[in-house]
Amino acid sequence: MRIPMMAGNWKMNKTPAEAVEFVNTIKDELQRLSQIERVVCPPYVALAGVKQALAGTDIGVGAQDVHAEESGAYTSSVAANMLVGLADYVIIGHSETRQYLGVTDADVNKKTKLALKYGLKPIVAIGETLEQNELGQTTVVCDRQLRAALEGITDLQNIVIAYEPVWAIGTGRTATPEQAQAIIGGVVRPVLAELYGEAVAQATRILYGGSMNPANCADLMKQPDIDGGLIGGASLKVNDFIALTRIAIEVKALF
Ligand code: PGA
Repeated sequence: MRIPMMAGNWKMNKTPAEAVEFVNTIKDELQRLSQIERVVCPPYVALAGVKQALAGTDIGVGAQDVHAEESGAYTSSVAANMLVGLADYVIIGHSETRQYLGVTDADVNKKTKLALKYGLKPIVAIGETLEQNELGQTTVVCDRQLRAALEGITDLQNIVIAYEPVWAIGTGRTATPEQAQAIIGGVVRPVLAELYGEAVAQATRILYGGSMNPANCADLMKQPDIDGGLIGGASLKVNDFIALTRIAIEVKALF
């Protein structure tokens, strides 16, 4: 019922030329794997080239962030309306933006609302830090971040949630499938059900992110509430991103 998704978050990697070369290399094979949604999220400056290179495919393009205000004196920032036509999705609340750019829960909410206003589909990322995890605060933190992100939002149809434990991002230390399922199936989906009803919660895609790679993808995807991945490092490699997409299709028996 939920169409799985593999989204590649390229972070601050690849020049515009490298980005176009990458999608030109991957696009034919990725296009054939159409049973699930595939999305690439290059840096802002590569969006136009990547969007153009992927024209005529159903591979989605995402931005990695968007500003919380409509426009104005925010040197270096990019507003939601500027992304129209360049991106289909936008990652919001990634832990690196929370950590390095000072993005708050309230900002995540504003960004999500602006993205929706301009027809962009938010991939809203939540997740606890290592310290919060070790203090036993994982549930409380994820619950708080999720509710804050969605405050005042009535329609979840175009929103994807990504649970990314900060300690698993780029560290090679993946959450176990059981840990990821416990938060996604035991916290995220139940909060969505409480806020929007069971049917909406069951229809919403929830991704796992944090050192997902072709070796651990199958076990994660076997979890009933994990609908895909938000992939950093492994999404920069053609063969790995193709492999992740294939594994998701196989595990969810969609071939
Ligand atoms: P990673 O990054 O796969 O390199 O851990 C995931 C993310 O930050 O979205």
